[in-house]
Amino acid sequence: MSKKAWGGRFSTPTNELVEAFSESISFDARLANVDVRGSKAHARMLASVGLLSDDEADRIQAALDEILGEIERGELPFRNDLEDIHMHIESRLIEKLGDVGRKLHTGRSRNDQVSTDLRLYVRDAIDQIDELLEELQRAFASRGETDADVILPGYTHLQRAQPVLAPHYWLAYCEKFQRDRERLADARRRVNISPLGAAALAGTTLPIDREKTAETLEFEGIAANSLDVSSDRDYLIEFTFALSLVAAHLSTWAEEWILWNTTEFGFLTLPDAYTTGSSIMPQKKNPDVLELIRGKTARVMGAVSQLLVLVKGLPLAYNRDLQEDKLAMFDAHDTVVACLQLAPHIVANAQLNVDRINARLEDGYLDATALMEYLISKGVPMRTGHGTVGKLVALCESKSCRLAELSLDELQDACDLIEEDVYSILGTRNAVAALSSYGSGGREPVMNQLAAWREKLGM
Ligand code: ARG
Repeated sequence: MSKKAWGGRFSTPTNELVEAFSESISFDARLANVDVRGSKAHARMLASVGLLSDDEADRIQAALDEILGEIERGELPFRNDLEDIHMHIESRLIEKLGDVGRKLHTGRSRNDQVSTDLRLYVRDAIDQIDELLEELQRAFASRGETDADVILPGYTHLQRAQPVLAPHYWLAYCEKFQRDRERLADARRRVNISPLGAAALAGTTLPIDREKTAETLEFEGIAANSLDVSSDRDYLIEFTFALSLVAAHLSTWAEEWILWNTTEFGFLTLPDAYTTGSSIMPQKKNPDVLELIRGKTARVMGAVSQLLVLVKGLPLAYNRDLQEDKLAMFDAHDTVVACLQLAPHIVANAQLNVDRINARLEDGYLDATALMEYLISKGVPMRTGHGTVGKLVALCESKSCRLAELSLDELQDACDLIEEDVYSILGTRNAVAALSSYGSGGREPVMNQLAAWREKLGM
């Protein structure tokens, strides 16, 4: 007979290559903590329904704590023949407690056990990422104060478009990361459902109390269908999808600051401690961290596809394919955490090169749209005003000058409704000052938003 926990019906031992091929201990050992949490709750429940005595449950719970200590201190050797973290813990429990240890897995399968562990893991991970995202939002909101008076060009198609206050940029990222936090919170509601007691796929004939384990583990509900929940990995896909949007937002920010940090833009100086040099070119100071944040996005997005392809076409209920779910999810989680740990430092310690920004603030006709809106306010139909300002821009191009440098005669030649007051909206500073609509990049709307964000972030 095979020595495996499940070895009763096997006449020969498992092939070693199979053991090495099918093990998951090399990557699921990190579930030890949540596995012990789940098993302790399960043991307590078994005692409450009379499937264990109170004394047996106490001994199991104490031994599980000891085993977790052994694992954390690296004292429990991992072996391929024990497959995964769940079998390692159970076999150690049996070594310690004999027949009492043999009772822990009553009314439970690794299928509901693994899903319980993963849900506990993801729930903690969501809470951790929520905190990291809030810290990043704080870093952006703090810059709102530092850079309150700086005007930046806004771009579309990477062409100069309209000017905005610098904090408008920072708060744009606060908004994106807020939606990420909301998405994670929403996913958390579906993560926070107990699968424990679904057993292998069909539930059990034993009088278990699923309410009790759910309550102990602080789940908000109990999965109603054992077949469904033992095959469900939706929650992992939702979690990694939410992570991939976090990564996408980080990547947009990283790309923008990589550009702004170039000699060509020169808007930004990155902190020395968060940049690196070149092995051959002595002058170099490279934005490697931002590039890696941008690059690592690929892994997080890849994890979502990996999981979707993994579950595609799997029949109900548990299939061993699902063991692979952890690799993708752990990697996405670790990657996003690593990025989020660095990002706030870069945000807080980069410097806007205000002189450099100001030196070219009047380039690119950032006030053209403001001029068009001035014409609209004088009664010119929008399309006509657009055409008029387009012609004035062409005139400036031919004269190599700015809109504000045109004479009143030249302006009135284009449109006789233009008056002397036009000069109060021309020029980038005037153009940004004139932005007043809700959510726009002008002073009052931006300062209102900044105040609201600071309150929301408890600053
Ligand atoms: N290590 C496996 C996993 O993570 C445990 C589940 C094994 N279950 C089974 N019925 N063979 O999926």
